[in-house]
Amino acid sequence: MSNETPSNKTLRVLTGITTSGTPHLGNYVGAIRPTVIASRTAGMEGYYFLADYHALIKTGGDPARVQRSTLEIAATWIAAGLDPERVTFYRQSDIPEIPELTWFLTCVCGKGLLNRAHAYKAAVDKNREKRAAAGAAGLDEDEDAGVSAGLFMYPVLMAADILMFNAHRVPVGRDQIQHIEMARDIGTSFNHLYGEHFTLPEAQIEETVATLPGLDGRKMSKSYDNTIPLFTPRDQLKKLIAGIKTDSRAPGEPKDTEGSALFQIYEAFATPEETAQLRRAYAEGISWGQAKELLFERIDREIAPMRETYQSLIDHPERLEDMLKAGAAKARRIATPFTAKLRHAVGLRDLRAQATDKKSKATKAALPSFKQYREADGQFYFKFVDAQGQLLLQSTGYASPKDAGAAIKALQADDAALAQLPAPADVDAVRAALRILREAAEAA
Ligand code: TRP
Repeated sequence: MSNETPSNKTLRVLTGITTSGTPHLGNYVGAIRPTVIASRTAGMEGYYFLADYHALIKTGGDPARVQRSTLEIAATWIAAGLDPERVTFYRQSDIPEIPELTWFLTCVCGKGLLNRAHAYKAAVDKNREKRAAAGAAGLDEDEDAGVSAGLFMYPVLMAADILMFNAHRVPVGRDQIQHIEMARDIGTSFNHLYGEHFTLPEAQIEETVATLPGLDGRKMSKSYDNTIPLFTPRDQLKKLIAGIKTDSRAPGEPKDTEGSALFQIYEAFATPEETAQLRRAYAEGISWGQAKELLFERIDREIAPMRETYQSLIDHPERLEDMLKAGAAKARRIATPFTAKLRHAVGLRDLRAQATDKKSKATKAALPSFKQYREADGQFYFKFVDAQGQLLLQSTGYASPKDAGAAIKALQADDAALAQLPAPADVDAVRAALRILREAAEAA
């Protein structure tokens, strides 16, 4: 089954960040830092993207904000240590296949499923309350007032993001779990109608990372306007930290760590030993001023080196633009052929293929393939070529055709077998082509 995590293949992890704001400490602790650490895990294939199509839903009418946020979030990921060579790092709107897939999925998605989405339901509930409050005059009010079709379709676009790359795991916050479940539902409907094309994703919730409190003690969030921007200048960071809400206990009085936003933020940055130390200092009556100084120093120690990288990227947007363009090319090596396969599956086909379609020659011809042959030196070789016959990988000589065949089998099963072969010019292209073959075999 395609929805099981194959033990012999790499685990594909994908996540997106909507480009509608400036990253804050809460985003860093809750999402960026754990994701960057996880992206370095062996045996994992990471897809990280800037969800700028999603941003249009929330920021309608503010193009400058979308552009600025895209720049800031891209710079943040790189400054925080994401390695675009290791992962696929791209901007959603650079992948035209995403909106195309969104339409395919729209056509298999029940409208009722979308009616149940939390964000949409919350908007409708609000309108209904207003209507009830207005009494008879309210009956003219539309319960969909102020709801764009984009907001309604949000889960389908997100499903396309995930299903396009057949992600196994999607690290998200709790508020996104329903969206992942909807992606599974929509993927299942498509698979049911058109064959097993999609892997069904699972939400990955980081249980260990705490949600960070903001300046006022509530969850740090744009919507509460209580955030500390991640890369705010040093003096600004100090000022903001000075504004964290505390109680009125005087210096010398023991303080509670329980319910102390300051303590919780410190804990998110400190080692267990440092945290234990601050806990003792609280009991011994450290002044709030001193505690804030400690917090400022601790955060700045971690952030300062990244802040420098961040600033240099913000000052050189062309570097980020190049990085994102390269990331999009890498992503499209998967998205373009996969979409071609999906177009065929739903019936958007080359009309000339009609005659041969029964023998499915058309689909066969569109796949990468292995070619075995014997050279004058008496040894047995193979080539791996893409759908257009372009050379992707050239083997060394084998003593027997059986040996060459075994090497091909190993490659078909697992990318790890690449280590046994001469390094290809474009290893990403080889991996992408191998994946297409595996998916075609699964679908067959
Ligand atoms: N909806 C996500 C959020 O607001 C962002 C997002 C868009 C996303 N597409 C995605 C997350 C695909 C994971 C996978 O946080």
